[in-house]
Amino acid sequence: MEQTLKIPTHIGFIMDGNGRWATQRGLSRSDGHRQGAEAMKKVVKACSQKGIKVVSIYAFSCENWSKRPQTEIKFLFSLITQFVKKEMKDYVKSGYRVRFSGDLSQLPKSTQNAVQKIIDASKDNQGLIVNIALNYGSHQEIVRAVNRILQSGLREIDEQMLEDCLYSAGLPPLDLVVRSSGEKRLSNFMLWQASYSELIFLDKYWPDFDEDTLDEILKEYSKRDRRFGGIS
Ligand code: IPE
Ligand code: IPE
Ligand code: MG
Repeated sequence: MEQTLKIPTHIGFIMDGNGRWATQRGLSRSDGHRQGAEAMKKVVKACSQKGIKVVSIYAFSCENWSKRPQTEIKFLFSLITQFVKKEMKDYVKSGYRVRFSGDLSQLPKSTQNAVQKIIDASKDNQGLIVNIALNYGSHQEIVRAVNRILQSGLREIDEQMLEDCLYSAGLPPLDLVVRSSGEKRLSNFMLWQASYSELIFLDKYWPDFDEDTLDEILKEYSKRDRRFGGIS
């Protein structure tokens, strides 16, 4: 008998393997990132069509800054800026609300401007929430939240108060985190928010992700028995 498909409310993607996808084809890493952006378009659209409410996407980590060649960082930011500018109209038209997690103040000015425009233009939309983790690290996010609490003068907190100071304030917890490229780690991605999420690791490189990959993911997620500390 066909199993009924369970649809996560909040899904996270760690987009990994752009570089290896390109190398395998004798292309440049930049080509891999370009193809990765195309995959992101397909996957986000498919998430919306499946009725998922929130998709969080790891686009650039704090650690990526210092650990990659300057030329790659520069290329990535020009690609991200172009993507935000070009996709913006479609996202706004599709009713998506775009938000960002991460320290945006460190980004190139042109990226900051593009990002602010898409946030403003989509802020009243009621459709899929697209949360892009950009210059993001989970440890950095939690330390920032604690500092914001300390600055308010509080000496004792509860979980809700900490959550309200995270970049993800107001979003539901992650139900599912998916990572491409065969690596089985979270690499500082939304650790607080993923505390009870299901994890799916696929060997496929990110540029090969599409609508069919999402179907495969949802089938696997539907088989999981989420107990949250209880018994089935
Ligand atoms: C993911 O692909 C994109 C970013 C981290 C920005 P990678 O660039 O990490 O690709 P691999 O892991 O080197 O193949
Ligand atoms: C994780 O990918 C970060 C993003 C997807 C933006 P990395 O390729 O940077 O992660 P590691 O270095 O393999 O852990
Ligand atoms: Mg990688």
